[in-house]
Amino acid sequence: MLSSQNANNRKNDKKPVSGSRLTADKPIPYGRQNITEEDIQTVIETLKSDYLTQGPKIAEFETAFAKYVGSKYAVAVSNGTAALHLCAMALNVKEGDKVITTPITFAASANCVRYCGGEVVFADIDPETYLLDITKVRELLEASPKGTYKGIIPVDFAGRAVDLEAFRNLANEYDLWIIEDSCHAPGGYFMDSDANKQHCGNGNFADLAIFSFHPVKHIACGEGGMITTNDEKLYEKLLQLRTHGIVKDEKKYKNTSAFAIGSTVMSGATVMSGTTVRSSAVDVMSSGDETYPNWYMEMQDLGYNYRLTDFQAALGISQLKRADEGLTKRREIAATYEKAFVGKKFIKGQSGVVEGHAYHLYVLEVENRLGLYNYLREHNIFAQIHYIPCHLMPYYRGFGWKEGDMPNAENYYKQCISLPMFPTLTDEEQSFVIERINEFYNV
Ligand SMILES: Cc1ncc(COP(=O)(O)O)c(C=O)c1O
Repeated sequence: MLSSQNANNRKNDKKPVSGSRLTADKPIPYGRQNITEEDIQTVIETLKSDYLTQGPKIAEFETAFAKYVGSKYAVAVSNGTAALHLCAMALNVKEGDKVITTPITFAASANCVRYCGGEVVFADIDPETYLLDITKVRELLEASPKGTYKGIIPVDFAGRAVDLEAFRNLANEYDLWIIEDSCHAPGGYFMDSDANKQHCGNGNFADLAIFSFHPVKHIACGEGGMITTNDEKLYEKLLQLRTHGIVKDEKKYKNTSAFAIGSTVMSGATVMSGTTVRSSAVDVMSSGDETYPNWYMEMQDLGYNYRLTDFQAALGISQLKRADEGLTKRREIAATYEKAFVGKKFIKGQSGVVEGHAYHLYVLEVENRLGLYNYLREHNIFAQIHYIPCHLMPYYRGFGWKEGDMPNAENYYKQCISLPMFPTLTDEEQSFVIERINEFYNV
């Protein structure tokens, strides 16, 4: 059954077009989740357990995910956007801070900067890789006094891993932090200058990395996200911000235990039976070795409720076990597309076969993109466009961004189309997609 929320703009009742050599008797979306019986049983078990949220599945998912990407720490959150927001907060993005990102991404990569009052500065993409072009980033940095920019948010767009070693070197020159938006690339990697595999989100180069568990992504939780890092301080900050800025650790409390117990306040006033009386001999400061009652906690910063539930985490744990299997299938699908389209006249570019690519998307750049898109829809194939350049969204136009600012991204947008790419896409379905595309271009 291929009905899925992922091609949510399609018409579900669409019948296959008669007269075509092959028919898709069910819609083929560009991406979809793969839920097995084991996934379902795991979720059911958690639903029957004591914890629907704030239970043991969260830490279990975090530990398994950190191991998968090779990072020290992981923090599970409610979605990828929340992950980005918390990262920007943890890195202290504030009013007027300039942060560089790519225009070919989902808006959330840029929006997290705006949530904190920062300014988004777009730099163009490399037309070959579709990723943020490091030479454009360097140009921006060189054109302003040091300190103008605070950070960079490169995106492993479509699943292709950014060369973070190169970005780290550049960031170090200008004292910048890096948030790797790896929503498209769990399991992806690039080869570093010593020919070592560097997995997306492993924390070796970026300060923080984020992932999304939306159903079109590699691992589906319904909604869900993860932040990975090797920085202990950032990790602790993220844990706090995920839950309202609340701290539950005696060693970190700012109020005294006397206050916590309910007998003394920090001002030196003693509260008894609802009456406040001044007291001259109250020990008002924390000595570090007092005992706080079990109920006590402190909200020390302004945080959010960005928690993942335990049943979502249970689904994530179960899905993660099959992540490599899914990745292998995605790479096979990519190889088949590449072989089918390489050298074709109507092809202006394609994702191709690239080592370490995690293939969340398989992109073609084509002539007459609108015609192809509509033709595929008529045949029950729901390709998608990723992305409308972020700087030309009306919201960002409002900051002065305009057509012509990012020529590579804008040219890419005019001809890109994302083909069906998900592990349960059958050979027959993929052949159907390829044949319809060739048919459209009369080849
Ligand atoms: C590159 C990128 N960043 C961030 C997000 C936001 O993730 P979520 O939808 O889980 O909030 C997405 C989701 O589509 C994405 O593709």
